[in-house]
Amino acid sequence: MLCLGIETSCDETAAAVVRDGREILSNIIATQLDLHAEYGGVVPELACRRHAQLIDRIVEKALKEGGVSLKDVGLVSVVQGPGLIGALLIGVNFAKGLAWSRGLPLVPTNHVEAHVYSCFMSNPQMELPAIGLVASGGHTSLFIMENVGRYRKLGETTDDAVGESFDKVASLLGLPYMGGPHVEKLALKGDANAIPFPRGLSKKKKSYDFSYSGLKTAVLYHVKGYGNKKRDPDKLSDQEKADVAASFQEAALEVLVQKSLRAAEQFRAKSIAVGGGVSANQRLRTLFAEGARNLALPVYFPERRLCTDNAAMVAGLGHWLYAQDPGSATYDFDARASMDFLR
Ligand code: KG4
Ligand code: ZN
Repeated sequence: MLCLGIETSCDETAAAVVRDGREILSNIIATQLDLHAEYGGVVPELACRRHAQLIDRIVEKALKEGGVSLKDVGLVSVVQGPGLIGALLIGVNFAKGLAWSRGLPLVPTNHVEAHVYSCFMSNPQMELPAIGLVASGGHTSLFIMENVGRYRKLGETTDDAVGESFDKVASLLGLPYMGGPHVEKLALKGDANAIPFPRGLSKKKKSYDFSYSGLKTAVLYHVKGYGNKKRDPDKLSDQEKADVAASFQEAALEVLVQKSLRAAEQFRAKSIAVGGGVSANQRLRTLFAEGARNLALPVYFPERRLCTDNAAMVAGLGHWLYAQDPGSATYDFDARASMDFLR
């Protein structure tokens, strides 16, 4: 069955056609980076307008690139939340109108759960139960994944998300929005041991929660100074900037890896599944590979194009949910700014 997925939860207008929950026929993503770059972050009002302007063309393009027409589609899936409410509304209302007019079933999905599904979509052989980690611009969550749709929460960030801390540090270093990939690139030239930034919550604590506000502040003070020791970040040398990027990145990622590995041991998980924008980071992948080697624990990541926001993961998850329970299809739902997928 072909599923048309639609995603408008933040600053990407995306549509995709996926066959049987796995085979990606098309995956169209219209990014709004240009629109928000000068503000250093997403401006909700502008995001909504751009979604409204583009959504029909992006869906058309997804069908065309997939080599299919609407009459071949058997199911529509859309992100219901969490995200920017105005942005979500554009996708949800468009999907409702389209599905209704064609008499197609419509499955509402959770954006963060779709990130988890993207890992499964790229690695269907994944051994379960797995420890799941979603590391994105809005979320940092650790959980036990018994199956797609069955999760048990272990911990989450108590303040900022890890991806957001990459974006803030990028902006401090004068790098463009969206910062993650730029920090990663700059970090390649730096020394990860140059600055001993704090590692979120104490490693001794048994908690599986995360915290990134302390790390962000430590980077801020290091770059800009404080009290009567203020300094101009523009005067940092290229090497100093690279050292900040590398040291920050190591501190931000190490905690994710340590807590995931500890959870895998404690709960005897058979694998680890990572998803969300930060899972595109190569240093994160290397740290996981190094950490899991002695435990003989497989760690899975989505293929790169499925790490950051996309609609293929939405179509995939929608198909899975519908196949498990056709009752998951409904027109009777609203967009939701906050929404937990850990049930
Ligand atoms: O999953 P995503 O596309 O959107 C949300 O659901 O938030 O994640 C975007 C986040 C941004 O904060 C971005 O800076 C971060 O993921 N990100 C990265 C990398 N690529 C994207 N962070 C670190 N390294 C990367 N290579
Ligand atoms: Zn996302």
